[in-house]
Parts: sequence; C-alpha cells; structure tokens
Amino acid sequence: MKQRYVNIVWACVVAWSLSAQAEDSSAIHTLAASCAACHGPNGNSLGGTPTLAALNEDYFVQRMQGFKDGSVSSTVMHHHAKGLTSAEIMALASYFAQQPRQTPQALPRQSFKGAQ
Ligand code: HEC
Repeated sequence: MKQRYVNIVWACVVAWSLSAQAEDSSAIHTLAASCAACHGPNGNSLGGTPTLAALNEDYFVQRMQGFKDGSVSSTVMHHHAKGLTSAEIMALASYFAQQPRQTPQALPRQSFKGAQ
C-alpha cells in the first residue's frame, strides 16, 4: 500500500516537471518569435538587422544590457531590451546561440560561436 502511494507521488512529480519544461520552452519560443519580425526566422536576418543566430552568448547579453542601460546606442533595440528581465535576456542568448546560422553576412564587430 505504501509503495503504491509512493508510485503515485512519483507519477505526479514526473508529470509536473514535464509540463513545467514544456511551458518553459514555449515561453522562450514566444519571446523569440517577437524578435523574428525584424531579425528573421530563428534569428537569421533577411537583411537590414543584425543576424542573431549562433551569436556568442556573452556578446548577446552585453549588447542587450547595453541597450537596456543606454550605454549602447540604438534606433529601436532600447525599447525591446527595456521590457526584458536579465533572466529572459540570458534565455534568449542561449536560444539564439543554438540556432544554426544560415545567412553569410555578419557585422564586423559581431562574434559568433565557432570559427569565423
Ligand atoms: C522593430 C525591429 C526589431 C525587433 C522587434 C527586435 N530587434 Fe533587435 N535589433 C534591431 C535593430 C535595428 C538592431 C540594430 C541596433 C538598433 O539600431 O537598434 C538590433 C540589434 C539587436 C542586437 C545586437 C546585435 C549586434 O550584433 O549588435 C541584439 C542582440 C538584438 N537586436 C536582439 C533582439 C531580441 C532578443 C529581440 C526580441 C526580444 C529583438 N532584437 C527584437 C531591430 C529589432
């Protein structure tokens, strides 16, 4: 009887943690989708804006924090960065770092994962 109770508790823990994970990953997708309008699908810019796909995470966070505190000048990004928490910026940095890069052009100052 006791064993059965333990099994039920485990089943609940597993179900809860699976649903929490699903929620997390869909939240980051929704957040990243709001960037796609300008930065292209999965951060692969179609031109005009910098490519975010495969961007180095530290560089990404630095730029975003800079937009947020005004130390990096921008035309539109200060608006977008201001609405994000540090945790969201970190999650976006890791999300975009994992996206395969499809566009060849990079800005001279950009640093990407892997060899350039
Ligand atoms: C309205 C269009 C627009 C949207 C939406 C947008 N961006 Fe940007 N982003 C830009 C532009 C334009 C720049 C170049 C800097 C500037 O002028 O603001 C930029 C620059 C950046 C940079 C710096 C890249 C570099 O190498 O300097 C990062 C990082 C970035 N955006 C992340 C994001 C993220 C994350 C989102 C979604 C939360 C987002 N952007 C949404 C237009 C946009």
